[in-house]
Amino acid sequence: MQKSVAELLQSDQFLQEVQLKGWVRTFRANRFIALNDGSTIKNIQCVIDFENTDDTLLKRITTSAAISISGTLVESQGKGQRVEINVNRIEILGDSNPEEYPIQPKKHSFEFLRENAHLRVRTNTFSAVMRLRSTLSFAVHKYFTENGFYNFHAPIITGSDAEGAGEMFQVSTLDSNNIPKNEDGKVDYSKDFFAKETNLTVSGQLEAETYAMSLGKVYTFGPTFRAENSNTTRHLAEFWMIEPEVAFMDLDGNMDLAEDFIKYVIKYVLDHCKDDLEFLNERFVKEESTKPQLQRSEMSLLEKLNFVVDNQFKRVSYTEAIDILRNCKPNKKKKFQYIINEWGADLQSEHERFLVEKHFKCPVILFDYPATIKAFYMRLNDDGKTVRAMDVLFPGIGEIVGGAQREERFDVLVEKMKALDIDEKELWWYLDLRKFGTAVHSGFGLGFERLVQFATGMSNIRDVIPFPRTPQNAEF
Ligand code: 4AD
Ligand code: MG
Repeated sequence: MQKSVAELLQSDQFLQEVQLKGWVRTFRANRFIALNDGSTIKNIQCVIDFENTDDTLLKRITTSAAISISGTLVESQGKGQRVEINVNRIEILGDSNPEEYPIQPKKHSFEFLRENAHLRVRTNTFSAVMRLRSTLSFAVHKYFTENGFYNFHAPIITGSDAEGAGEMFQVSTLDSNNIPKNEDGKVDYSKDFFAKETNLTVSGQLEAETYAMSLGKVYTFGPTFRAENSNTTRHLAEFWMIEPEVAFMDLDGNMDLAEDFIKYVIKYVLDHCKDDLEFLNERFVKEESTKPQLQRSEMSLLEKLNFVVDNQFKRVSYTEAIDILRNCKPNKKKKFQYIINEWGADLQSEHERFLVEKHFKCPVILFDYPATIKAFYMRLNDDGKTVRAMDVLFPGIGEIVGGAQREERFDVLVEKMKALDIDEKELWWYLDLRKFGTAVHSGFGLGFERLVQFATGMSNIRDVIPFPRTPQNAEF
């Protein structure tokens, strides 16, 4: 019977005949194959009776060759493993040329591995990250399903710019060498596929709001696209976003939901990804030890994850945060790239990370931001200048969640749209929600890759998505 390496490593049914297939990780002393099949980070040791094995066959057992093995599961004589397989029969399913195979059994830089993104998942680090990503994704669906949410599939092609930031990829079937123009020289989109200008979505929020107004609690979990030209370790042009949207919930409820949700999914991977996390923890600690003392994380990866699960997030208003930042050392000594002088300033990642890593030393939820630096749909406070926005800030990451209580009052929303020059006609359906049974409602967006970054301790967002899309890079 064919079993996975994960199953066999757990098994104590010794002397059973087993069959398994996988890829050679290493082959040592013409005798010991470390075999991996992706089911776990651990390899199983397969021991060959090399005196009775054909020489040409032995030569074909090379790193990354695909092989099939039949043998007997036995208690291991050697150190480092509990069980091993005494091989009776070995078949090469797919040869691999060791001279040409780019992934050698040595440490490669992440830059090099990004250029070989089709093969990098064969390394311990990337297979651990991607298994964890998969489990985390399952935990997201599990959390919302258990809490009465419906999964809502937001459209990917859309006519609206939810964030009003204009960072969108156009979707068009017009011939770019022969674009139809109007009399005034502008592109005639009536000739385009959808007879209007369309883009890849930057957020499913506006559509999710429509469904929350009937189904009560919904969430999206889908690809999101932003044509931001920012080459940072936290930005992708294509990323996955989780966006819950809940009717009759205010901003306090929204903060509770975000905190409870994040804690649940982190706890879930702590409980279900032990081997991978142990490996990633070791990698993280080793990497941190190469950094200068001041930049080093005070906690190991596992300590960081447990810390998030066990401690309350600190809730701080934007106004309080600005006071802290204005008076902090790096601001006074002009160590920040962007100096905070006055209320109203937009916070950069250096400020967010100062608050989280140096000042509060725990995850922080900032709320009630100035209306001028946030999107049009956020509910205006009675002070007339702040909105019911919230951002969750995480150590090492900065902003991981952005959300808000939505403006549910028709008149106020129309006023805001006018002020920002957003066409009411384009968003007629969004305004309809405020005409027919409007209600207080809130939601947020969590960048899935930033969450995976936090959970795996990987410092570059390009290393937590299989095939990263960034400016000037869409290989594979
Ligand atoms: O703060 P953002 O722009 O909020 C929204 O899009 C809202 N419509 C969400 C909502 O209320 N339903 O984005 C939300 C999160 C950010 O906090 C960040 O984690 C992630 O999405 N994000 C990105 N992740 C990777 N690459 C990018 N370019 C990202 N831009 C945003
Ligand atoms: Mg944001």
